[in-house]
Amino acid sequence: MPTFKDREVQAIQEEALREIRAAANAADLERLRVKFLGRKGILTLILRGLKDLDPDLRRRVGQEANRAKKALEDALDQALADLKAAARRAPAEELDVTLPGRRPPLGHLHPLTRITQEVCDIFLHLGFEAVEGPEVELDYYNFEALNIPADHPARDMQDTFYFNEKVLLRTQTSPMQIRVMEQRRPPMRIIGPGRVYRRDSDITHSPMFHQVEGLLVDRRVSFADLKGVLLAFAHQMFGPEVSLRFRPSYFPFTEPSAEVDISCVICRGLGCRVCKITGWLEILGAGMVHPAVFEAVGYDPEEYTGFAFGLGVERIAMLKYGIDDIRLFYDNDLRFLRQF
Ligand code: PHE
Repeated sequence: MPTFKDREVQAIQEEALREIRAAANAADLERLRVKFLGRKGILTLILRGLKDLDPDLRRRVGQEANRAKKALEDALDQALADLKAAARRAPAEELDVTLPGRRPPLGHLHPLTRITQEVCDIFLHLGFEAVEGPEVELDYYNFEALNIPADHPARDMQDTFYFNEKVLLRTQTSPMQIRVMEQRRPPMRIIGPGRVYRRDSDITHSPMFHQVEGLLVDRRVSFADLKGVLLAFAHQMFGPEVSLRFRPSYFPFTEPSAEVDISCVICRGLGCRVCKITGWLEILGAGMVHPAVFEAVGYDPEEYTGFAFGLGVERIAMLKYGIDDIRLFYDNDLRFLRQF
């Protein structure tokens, strides 16, 4: 039979364990440790009083009290560990509805896409309609109908990727002129953005690049109309302070033909490294549609006139953003792309 003293120890242990379970924080636990196990704690006093008991009772109560002491120490350690674990979990479980939401990562348009859209937008506002055509093109549309005879140097294997004698990767967006004129009757104002391919590769040439083709056909269209439209475009694209320069040039499908420069956007025409001290930057080729091209699509060159132009997207992007290596556009290096 357990004696009064044994039961007292058991009752103390049970009470202590109840209080430990109810403890809300580390301070409560420390208070309980002092209360039961401290220098003047309840169990400590019992252990200290053992020496006054009969040897028999001393042994039993001593065993009982040491066991209780161990049980309380374990319970206190465990409760403290539980509190710490709960504190670590808490932030993840708590929901703070006042925190700003996490934004999903948002991509943006490639600089070449941006420039293409900007160019097309300007012409759309001038009444042009955007059309697209195939990159794998027939020799007929890329050359033949554009008044480029079979022995023309532009057909040289050096410049053109051929699939076979009749099929190739278009070297320019000009075949769109023929495709549209074949389908419609004047008047027409079209703009044709797209990829083109040439066997050429260095820091300013890529075997694939982008052009935007323009074509306007109507009665009594003059070179002055061409100049007016291109000047309006240049002012929209580069700012009202830029001027245009038309240099005589040659394209088989336009006559007369011109290469068109803008005053250098870097040095404002004063002369710098980008414009090679000339003060001018070439941005496009243009001209009045050649009568032979009209004949190829069954238009009467006596009745209709028109102008066409072809503009290099990479070139404009390089000028606008001050980029000196065309290959940066195709590497897809995010450190480069994120700057736009
Ligand atoms: N297709 C020509 C080129 O790629 C540019 C051009 C287009 C010239 C239309 C005149 C008229 O160089």
